[in-house]
Formats: sequence, C-alpha cells, structure tokens
Amino acid sequence: MRIVLGVSGGVAAYKAVLLLRLLREQGHRVRVVPTASALRFVGAPTWEALSGEPATDQVFEDVEHVPHVALGQGADLVVVAPATADLLARAASGRADDLLTSTLLTARCPVVMAPAMHTEMWEHPATRANVATLRERGAHVIEPASGRLTGADTGPGRLPEPEEIARVALAVAEGSDDGSRDEDAAAGRDLAGRRVVVSAGGTREPIDPVRFIGNRSSGRQGVELARVARARGAHVTLVAANLAPDVAALVEDAGLDDVVAVETTAQLREAVRAAAATADVVVMAAAVADFRPAHAPGAKIKKVPGRGPEPIALVENPDVLAELAHERLRAGQVVVGFAAETGDADGSVLDHGRAKARRKGADLLVVNAVGEGLGFGVDANDVTVVDGSGEVVATAGGTKRAVADAVWDVVAGRVAAGSLGGAVARAE
Ligand code: CTP
Repeated sequence: MRIVLGVSGGVAAYKAVLLLRLLREQGHRVRVVPTASALRFVGAPTWEALSGEPATDQVFEDVEHVPHVALGQGADLVVVAPATADLLARAASGRADDLLTSTLLTARCPVVMAPAMHTEMWEHPATRANVATLRERGAHVIEPASGRLTGADTGPGRLPEPEEIARVALAVAEGSDDGSRDEDAAAGRDLAGRRVVVSAGGTREPIDPVRFIGNRSSGRQGVELARVARARGAHVTLVAANLAPDVAALVEDAGLDDVVAVETTAQLREAVRAAAATADVVVMAAAVADFRPAHAPGAKIKKVPGRGPEPIALVENPDVLAELAHERLRAGQVVVGFAAETGDADGSVLDHGRAKARRKGADLLVVNAVGEGLGFGVDANDVTVVDGSGEVVATAGGTKRAVADAVWDVVAGRVAAGSLGGAVARAE
C-alpha cells in the first residue's frame, strides 16, 4: 500500500517514528510529510533514513513532480500522527499552506488522524468543532488516549500507541472496518471486544474461624484497573479479595460485568482460573498470601492460662501468577503481574522487580515501590512496567487511576499487536 504519513509538531512525533517502522516492516511504501514544527522535534534525516524517501514540508521543492498534488492523488491511505490542534484547525478550514495540508486537500483515499495535545486544547470548543467538521467530511479521527501527557499532567490528549494507530488505519484503508471498531477507537474504547480478568485486594488465610493472616492491600489499584478497562470497552471480571470499604463502594457503580468475591488464596485461584480460560488479558493485582496455616481448626483457638501460644505451622500457597504464565490457559493471552517492593541491601525496587519478572514468566510485571506514602492504602502510586525479560517498557506515576490508564496503554498495544497479524495478512 502507498501510505502518506503526515506528522505535525508535537512531542508525540517520536511515536510516529515507531509507527513509520511498523508500517514499513509490514511491507508498505511510506512517504513522510512533516510540518515545519514537526521537523523541530524529529529531523528530516530520521524520516528519510527510515522511509527511504525524501521528507520535506516544502511545496517549492521537486516542483517538476508537483508534489503538493501528486502525493495526495497517489496515496492509498493518509495517516496523520500526531495531529496537533493547529493541524486539525488548518485541515478543517481547508488551508493549503504547506505540503501536508495540500496533500490532505488532494487526497481521495481514506484519511486517518490521530490527535495529540494537552487536554485543555483537545476539549476547547474550537478543536471540538474542527474535529466534528473533519469527521463530517469523512476523515477518521481517532479519539486520543487518556493518560500521562508531556509533563506530570494526565487526561485525554495522549497519542494512542503506534500499534493501535496502525491497526485502526489499516482496517480503515482495507475497508474491512465494520464501523464499530472505528467508533470504538473514536470513543477511546481500545479494549472493546476483549475479555479481561483483574484480581484485586489481599487474600486472607484462616488461622481459626475468627482469625486470619492477611496483608495491607486495599484493592484500590486493582479496582482502578478494572474500572479503566471497563471504560475502555473491555468485558471485565473482577475477582475481589477483601476490599477496603471505600474501594468496595467504587466497585458498586463501576458497571463491571462480573464481580466474584473471594477470601482465601484457594478461592482466588479457582475464580481467576475459571475466568482466565476465556480471557484475552489476566491482571494479577491482588496481594496473594504466599503461605497459609497448615491446619485451621474449625473451633476458635483458646488461650490456656499459663501455657504459651502454639506456633502456627505454615505451608506454601500455589503461585497463581506463575501458574497462569506457564500454563497459558488461552493462546495469545497477555498475563500481567504486580510486584510491590521496598528495596533492600540486596537490590533496588527495580532490581527486585526485574528478577521477579524473569522468575514469574509473566508478559508484563508492574513494579511499584511501597512505603513512604506510596502503594498500600493511598491514592498515589509510582510504577515501572517491565516485560518478561526484565526490560523497562513504561513508567507511570500519579493517581492509581492514571497508573491504571498507563498499564492498559501498554497492554492494549500488546493485545492489538497480537491481532494486527490478521489485519496485515488481509492487506497483503
Ligand atoms: N502472586 C500469585 N500467587 C502467589 C503470590 C503472588 O499470583 N501465591 C502474584 C501477585 O498477584 C502479583 C505477583 O504474583 O501479581 C507478585 O507478588 P509478590 O507477592 O510480589 O511475589 P512473590 O513471588 O510472593 O515474591 P516475594 O518473595 O517478593 O514475596
């Protein structure tokens, strides 16, 4: 396919480099048309080296080939990523003041735009009107992802991951899009049609009918993951282990598809595995007890005056995450674990996280530092996402909701990449 990749001037231009590589790797011819500001973020040599074609914003170069008309006319698909507020405004008003806007005016093929900007700019009535105009005229404007923006701020305005843009753009170009996928993408529902299982909270292992061994997990991060997945269109099963009351209240109006309340690790394991059999993604956010009392008598253990306490013998629990990672109950399933670490004399939080990622065999491990106002029971979190080999693939911080968004961005990219193979095969 002959693709024009328009790039306008935003920090997210670096993601367009990855998009270019992805499209090239799939055998498409790609001509990059940057704006002047895009070239201030990523220079022409990068675009030219990776595309094997010239990259300029100028209409007065190579004039004998009339590029400002020829590029648009000859394209099978135009993708603009990132599309800034300014680019959307110029495109909506029909300007032709550089090579990209001229190309947009002459293109008669499908046009896909992936906006990226700060939330305020995205939500401004001027931008809303420009997007509405462009959609009315047939352009496919992908709804920006929600998550971390350039600074510490979060909200809608983030460029979706390159895999997701490629998936939508190629589906639109093939005409194989039944409309619903594009609408889902437009509404930020990038997990539509996916089934996910999230475990949240902390398991409790009975010592006797009234006492248990437990942990401090409130379940907030897991519940935020479930809520965000639901908002992004997934079918969500939440396996909830002993949530804190304020967190349990959040679940009530989250509209999740299925909520299974469990107490012990054995119950959690059974519920997670049952749902995982048909799931595309399993996220083990629960703090699962590693050990349980070997015997839990059916009657309350009594204190006998003058006799000290009996020791509690413990046995090891199965590692639910490692089992799921090794057994792979469903082909192509993305298995995500969490690791709450403190760092010690043997290594930093990240050292421990990386070692755990390799040990557990999960596709992704979300490593978070606990203690000092982070992690358990508070709404702030600061995480590093590593893959199964321990490589860092993302970092995120802020509220647990922002962290949930960032985690789903990574997971959605993996799930989309898994199904991209099908779309590409059809394109060739
Ligand atoms: N986990 C699990 N089953 C267990 C223990 C942990 O599925 N029996 C999962 C958790 O849900 C989490 C990940 O494994 O996703 C990491 O949990 P963590 O307690 O940090 O790992 P451990 O292997 O217990 O390591 P540590 O020695 O640090 O406690």
